[in-house]
Amino acid sequence: MAQEVRAVIAPGKGAPVRVDTVVVPDPGPGEAVVRVQACGVCHTDLHYREGAINDDFPFLLGHEAAGVVEAVGPDVTEVAPGDFVILNWRAVCGRCRACLRGRPWYCFDTHNATQKMTLKDGTELSPALGIGAFAEKTLVAAGQCTKVDPSVSASVAGLLGCGVMAGIGAAINTGGVGRGDSVAVIGCGGVGDAAVVGSRLAGAARIIAVDIDDRKLATASAMGATHTVNSRDRDPVEAIRELTGGHGADVVIEAVGRPETYKQAFYARDLAGTVVLVGVPSPEMTLELPLLDVFGRGGSLKSSWYGDCLPSRDFPMLIDLHLQGRLDLGAFVTETIALDEVEAAFARMSEGDVLRSVVVM
Ligand SMILES: NC(=O)c1ccc[n+]([C@@H]2O[C@H](COP(=O)([O-])OP(=O)(O)OC[C@H]3O[C@@H](n4cnc5c(N)ncnc54)[C@H](O)[C@@H]3O)[C@@H](O)[C@H]2O)c1
Ligand SMILES: [Zn+2]
Ligand SMILES: [Zn+2]
Repeated sequence: MAQEVRAVIAPGKGAPVRVDTVVVPDPGPGEAVVRVQACGVCHTDLHYREGAINDDFPFLLGHEAAGVVEAVGPDVTEVAPGDFVILNWRAVCGRCRACLRGRPWYCFDTHNATQKMTLKDGTELSPALGIGAFAEKTLVAAGQCTKVDPSVSASVAGLLGCGVMAGIGAAINTGGVGRGDSVAVIGCGGVGDAAVVGSRLAGAARIIAVDIDDRKLATASAMGATHTVNSRDRDPVEAIRELTGGHGADVVIEAVGRPETYKQAFYARDLAGTVVLVGVPSPEMTLELPLLDVFGRGGSLKSSWYGDCLPSRDFPMLIDLHLQGRLDLGAFVTETIALDEVEAAFARMSEGDVLRSVVVM
């Protein structure tokens, strides 16, 4: 029988979010209902609320979550009721041209639940990134559930569902950071700090954190940045070159999503270096660069969708590292909050007061 749960809805462009009653259908073929235990507040939720992703309001927000599978559809074999899972927005299809070429982390045909969650009056909801987990329970495709070691706390596990995975993956998977490399990370929110942590895990020798907020730089240092640059005080391109023998960093990770910070990343890397764009720009933004510089500086300019992660490979591995004490996921959690505090958490995020607020059900 369909269930009624409390959940956070974004009703319209720029309007404050509110807690409402949402109807969650029983899982059909290929689907699962998950009892959400924790869900982090990501900048992308705020992008949705502002209408910067698309206009499919009302949205059911939240997508960085962990919880326990409550029920599965008739044909589901990969997860079962009682499994502790992290929700992912990359349920790999196994059949698209990316999957068939052996690159499932690019899967072009990821899937979500077929049935819709609705408001009580029947209005269909658009779940953020096909998840919608600022909710006591949510309906997803079974492939969006990745089983991990249940001894980890849900509030840290959920973070791997989006921002922290995106940042770690931007460094390790997309940027290919390796032992001895120099890395610069521009923008040290949850995603940028995760890129710092990923670079450290990969053995980078020099990790330069750039932000416009000294509080963010202090956290980035605590997470493993070897140097910090406040780009309000000085030109970050010059500073990064100075810290890398005059050359620029091997890999520069842009975790803001703006043309000016992308340009900084472009010019702050060494010849033949790599730029990784993991920050998400909004639709009106454009970029102008001298084409000769694009050619003459060589190397690669990459974008990182979800850290080019493969949830089935990366989530259990990173949870294991966390449980072994080699990856401090807890450091990303600034505060835990209740479901009705998401709007206030957006304000604190915009003020730069938090790395991650995590809703705990
Ligand atoms: N590619 C992906 O798969 C993926 C996944 C999750 C989030 N994201 C995106 O990553 C970006 C960062 O997300 P977040 O949750 O860390 O956000 P956040 O708001 O927590 O962090 C942004 C950081 O950038 C800093 N910043 C802002 N303007 C700056 C500037 N001009 N120069 C240097 N630093 C600046 C802020 O001070 C802040 O520390 C967002 O665009 C988000 O949508 C991408
Ligand atoms: Zn595919
Ligand atoms: Zn996110």
